[in-house]
Amino acid sequence: MSSVLLSSFDPVSQKEIEAALAYQREHGAHDLYLAVNEEGVLSKELRTRLLKKALAPYRHLHVTSEVKDAETLTPADEEEIRKGEYRKAAYGIRGELIREGYYLNATAKAMCNPHRYAHTCSVAEVCRQLAAVHHMDEKKAWVMGMLHDLTKGFSDEANRKIIEIYKPEWLSISPKVWHSYTGVIYAKQSLCLEDPDIAYAMEHHTIGDGHTDWAYLLYIADKIEPLRGYDVSKQRALAEKDLKAAANLIREESKAYILETEGIHV
Ligand SMILES: [Fe+2]
Ligand SMILES: [Fe+2]
Repeated sequence: MSSVLLSSFDPVSQKEIEAALAYQREHGAHDLYLAVNEEGVLSKELRTRLLKKALAPYRHLHVTSEVKDAETLTPADEEEIRKGEYRKAAYGIRGELIREGYYLNATAKAMCNPHRYAHTCSVAEVCRQLAAVHHMDEKKAWVMGMLHDLTKGFSDEANRKIIEIYKPEWLSISPKVWHSYTGVIYAKQSLCLEDPDIAYAMEHHTIGDGHTDWAYLLYIADKIEPLRGYDVSKQRALAEKDLKAAANLIREESKAYILETEGIHV
């Protein structure tokens, strides 16, 4: 028997901690050591730090870099976590995963088609740039952009089921808007999102009826990201001076566009 278990811990899941505790009980080991191998999306250093954080509540589980005679612990749930099921990560690191957005690229890639994935990355980058101009938290802005359309690829039926439960008053509005709210529910339930600014901005990003700087920022970035392919230099310049004024301008322009193309007053 070994007192060292080696795995990728990319990132460490709650199931892996439970497997380590079961191993410890079965083998009567007083102390058990976990070690991070070389394979991972995240650097070994970062995975090791996350593992230490996850093990903090467990007095007899420790992290080691000594892997001589180590046994392999089969990874459990790690791939699912990297594709958007952060709730399967070890309890102690879930908040950090979403705050830092460690796996959001992989999550967005797994949940979006290539076109929407490109749009998502582009929106996140514009969010970050505008946040920098306005001295707002750039990382938080980037995370918000990466999250904003995650459920847009869900079928109307799948989105409807969520809306029926959590936001029934939205059943009467266009299904095109539903992903704004189902995205919030997904981010809270699967990715453990707790940030109320991001949740509010996501909820209002399609119609642009939010009234916070975070909501203006996301609404603007969604409409002016460069892959949209139209000239947005005027809107971009205004957004760098005044987020609220830019959001109002874009909202008026899109109302006029919808009236012209679809004959609908919004
Ligand atoms: Fe959207
Ligand atoms: Fe979008």
